Amino acid sequence: MSKKVFIRTFGCQMNLRDSEVVAGLLEKSGYNLTDNSEKAEIVIFNTCSVRQHAEDKVWSEIGRFAKAKSKPIIGLIGCMAQNYKAGVFSRAPAVDFAVGPADIDKIPAILKSLLAQKSALKVKKIWETEGSLRPEEIYHTGFHLDKSHAYVVISEGCVNFCSYCVVPYTRGPLRHRKPEDILREIKDGVKKGITKVTLLGQNVNAYDYEGFNFVSLLNLVNLVDGLKEFSFITSHPKDTTIELFQAMAGLDKLKKYLHLPVQSGSDRILKLMNRGYTAKYYLDLARNYRKIVKGGELTTDIIVGFPGETQKDFQDTYDLVKKVKFEFGFIFKYSPRPNTAALKYEDDVPRAEKERRHQLILDLQKKISKKYAKNKA
Ligand code: 5AD
Ligand code: SF4
Repeated sequence: MSKKVFIRTFGCQMNLRDSEVVAGLLEKSGYNLTDNSEKAEIVIFNTCSVRQHAEDKVWSEIGRFAKAKSKPIIGLIGCMAQNYKAGVFSRAPAVDFAVGPADIDKIPAILKSLLAQKSALKVKKIWETEGSLRPEEIYHTGFHLDKSHAYVVISEGCVNFCSYCVVPYTRGPLRHRKPEDILREIKDGVKKGITKVTLLGQNVNAYDYEGFNFVSLLNLVNLVDGLKEFSFITSHPKDTTIELFQAMAGLDKLKKYLHLPVQSGSDRILKLMNRGYTAKYYLDLARNYRKIVKGGELTTDIIVGFPGETQKDFQDTYDLVKKVKFEFGFIFKYSPRPNTAALKYEDDVPRAEKERRHQLILDLQKKISKKYAKNKA
């Protein structure tokens, strides 16, 4: 009888899409997907390493499954697998296999080999974290969790090396998918009832396939018959252009929505973060966006309590939020991450102070978001 697989996803939309890719591959290999983790013979955690908190949650959930009466085969995939490599097994001996983001195509073969081992002798743990390129076919199983909306990856990895961020280490360097392959995936989706698409990449604005840039890609996607609406995440201010805003204003199917993480409003901290822009540059960009993309939504990410962030630096961020008036903001407390450049700075903002700054910006943003909601009603 075919084995039941439960997949639990942590983290960003890229991870959600990766889980769909794994689900599609496993379904094709004869496995049954289930929403009931208790009944599953195989449990896969698709993990996130962007903050310590996300990792802690995974270790504790694995502990829960490890104690189950009939322990399932446990897989840990995604960023934590890449981050810890074989260390996954010493940290969580219940894990049977660990697979990094660039190796998820190997999961069906790994499961086959694990299931072939006699259960009592199941001693061979497997980890795969050396891959660099995903085979293109993995994106074409046609598996989407939502019947009408599809996530479509346009690029993998990141080379920006923001000093706090683990992603360039877990997801590797930036690679771009061919425009034809992206278009084929979208058109196949539309044939099956997909009407909305979100284009995904760690920094979509840097998309460049042999000179074919992001705006050119948007123009092509807009032409797909049957597609009603599409959007993209995530954008990096340093690669966001007026040309993009003009495309957003002009393309009828492109949602007027821009997620543009600012991270900080202090030039000193932005420099330490290696973001490649100043607060003034960001403010000008936001102003141009509002002017050109009439009625467009603007959202952001902010990190408070970066090493060395003074009261003045924090105030600069607070003031920027007040000025830009984001429709929504995701506010995070700085969390030191392995391999990153910021590790060399002391994580010196006390926890209670990080909490306080976090709450202050949350409260401010809530007020701003509420006003937008009221104006819409
Ligand atoms: N600590 C806190 N927040 C972080 N982010 C990325 N790395 C860290 C970190 N080390 C936030 C950034 C990013 C979002 C996805 O997560 O704001 O835009
Ligand atoms: Fe991380 Fe910066 Fe790349 Fe975003 S752009 S994934 S924050 S390194």
